[in-house]
Amino acid sequence: MAYGRILLPPRARRQGRLGLVQLPDFLYGTAWKEDRTPALTEQALRAGFRGIDTANQRRHYFEAGVGQGLAAAYRAGVVTRADLFLQTKFTHQAGQDHRLPYDPAADLSTQVAQSMASSLEHLGTDHVDSYVLHGPASGRGWSPDDVEVWAAMVKERDAGRTRLLGVSNVSLRHLEQMAATGAEMPGFVQNRCFARFGWDRDVRSFCTDRTIVYQGFSLLTANPEVVHHLTDFAAAHNATPAQVVFRFAQAVGMLPLTGTTDAGHMTEDLASRAVTLSAEEVRAIESLAG
Ligand SMILES: NC(=O)c1ccc[n+]([C@@H]2O[C@H](COP(=O)([O-])OP(=O)(O)OC[C@H]3O[C@@H](n4cnc5c(N)ncnc54)[C@H](OP(=O)(O)O)[C@@H]3O)[C@@H](O)[C@H]2O)c1
Repeated sequence: MAYGRILLPPRARRQGRLGLVQLPDFLYGTAWKEDRTPALTEQALRAGFRGIDTANQRRHYFEAGVGQGLAAAYRAGVVTRADLFLQTKFTHQAGQDHRLPYDPAADLSTQVAQSMASSLEHLGTDHVDSYVLHGPASGRGWSPDDVEVWAAMVKERDAGRTRLLGVSNVSLRHLEQMAATGAEMPGFVQNRCFARFGWDRDVRSFCTDRTIVYQGFSLLTANPEVVHHLTDFAAAHNATPAQVVFRFAQAVGMLPLTGTTDAGHMTEDLASRAVTLSAEEVRAIESLAG
């Protein structure tokens, strides 16, 4: 089945950092789906999504349910593992409930290794395509705990259990401090994307400079006024406001996420790639709210 691919910046491809992995142009998010997770994951694959985002954080995600959905799709011949971009996350204990994927008494490096082993079991694979630090240990800055966790994640990558690494819920300050430690920088940043902050302009700009792919979530739910404001504009493009937002996101180089639970919206969200926006329209949407 044909589906969109992100065109990687030539510099990233030359560096080989992202170049070995084919990125889809949309990610299907599996948070908050509980018992519906297996069926919705399978449905998303049937609809045409080839990128799946999850986390080993039972509080908000049912990662084993994602694995069940994948297995059902493989059995039905919808996709093979090789067709997919699978992304999961390591979540600090503060972001978890009592259902931990690691020994809370173990050091952080061991927790990362245990969480990864559990993710691979849940997802029925020997590697993921991207492994993301769900959030830094502190909102104030890149801390020694983050340095330790990141080093453990790099080890997982070097051992072949993930192809790429990412960080999530980060500020520009986190990223600048991370860079100042001399650490290898991530292939992805995944953030909630608020239009009123220029669609996370500062972080996106940092990412562009470093050939990091920015993944945007809550593009609709964080920006209801903007979505509403785009109603007439979207109609003039034979599109829905949601499609305009997702197409805009792709046009500025983002990899958008949607976690829709509606079959019609799955098709609609993927079809946003066919919406044509001029460079001027993209610039206007970019500065609509901030
Ligand atoms: N890193 C993190 O900390 C973090 C945090 C939050 C989320 N995420 C990831 O991002 C994924 C997406 O989460 P999200 O926050 O973006 O929100 P979401 O869970 O995808 O919610 C999107 C909302 O938009 C609606 N929607 C989707 N397509 C639509 C369309 N075409 N027309 C109208 N409404 C539409 C959905 O309603 P319907 O269901 O009715 O379509 C839903 O109410 C999550 O599943 C998760 O994987 C990551």
